[in-house]
Amino acid sequence: MKKLLILTMAAVMALAVAGVVFAAPPDFQLTNVGSEGPVTYSHSFHLKQKVDGKQVTCKNCHMKLFHMKKGADKITMSDIKAGKFCGACHNGKIAFGVSAKTCNKCHKK
Ligand code: HEC
Ligand code: HEC
Ligand code: HEC
Repeated sequence: MKKLLILTMAAVMALAVAGVVFAAPPDFQLTNVGSEGPVTYSHSFHLKQKVDGKQVTCKNCHMKLFHMKKGADKITMSDIKAGKFCGACHNGKIAFGVSAKTCNKCHKK
């Protein structure tokens, strides 16, 4: 009986840990931006978007575009313009692209 209780508690705790791992983190800033303003990246905003008519999920970005660790990827504008990282969507088709008019949509002073 006591063993069953311990097993049940272990299962509940494992689920709680999984819940923490799979919850999207709050907005954060990416600051490797040279003299531009920092980029605020919002998980909650992006998870409300649709790509090709389908609701965005973690899999749209993790792990194929980004590691699950802030600052882990070395993101450059040339990579973004080449369709990597944010540029997989921010290409002017799925979402606004990179141009002189859009720098400050991502980089806020
Ligand atoms: C539109 C793209 C996108 C989607 C969708 C997305 N993420 Fe992320 N996530 C990112 C980016 C960008 C980073 C930062 C990567 C970096 O800086 O190298 C990140 C980082 C993280 C981190 C690390 C945060 C930290 O402080 O280190 C976690 C945890 C995470 N994501 C979880 C999730 C989960 C869970 C989901 C699905 C519910 C999800 N993400 C969906 C883009 C996305
Ligand atoms: C899976 C596709 C996808 C990826 C990857 C992605 N975005 Fe987006 N993003 C979108 C969509 C869709 C929109 C909404 C349409 C639009 O604004 O053109 C959007 C909108 C935005 C906006 C406007 C938010 C607002 O409040 O209007 C910002 C800023 C942004 N993205 C930054 C980023 C940054 C920075 C990255 C990379 C770290 C990134 N996105 C990666 C799909 C993506
Ligand atoms: C879709 C969002 C987005 C747009 C639009 C955008 N950037 Fe960025 N930029 C980023 C992200 C994300 C990083 C990497 C931040 C990090 O890794 O800490 C970055 C990094 C940079 C860097 C430092 C790395 C490098 O490549 O030298 C510079 C400089 C920069 N951006 C300039 C610009 C300029 C100028 C524009 C407009 C022509 C622009 N960006 C438009 C998201 C964007």
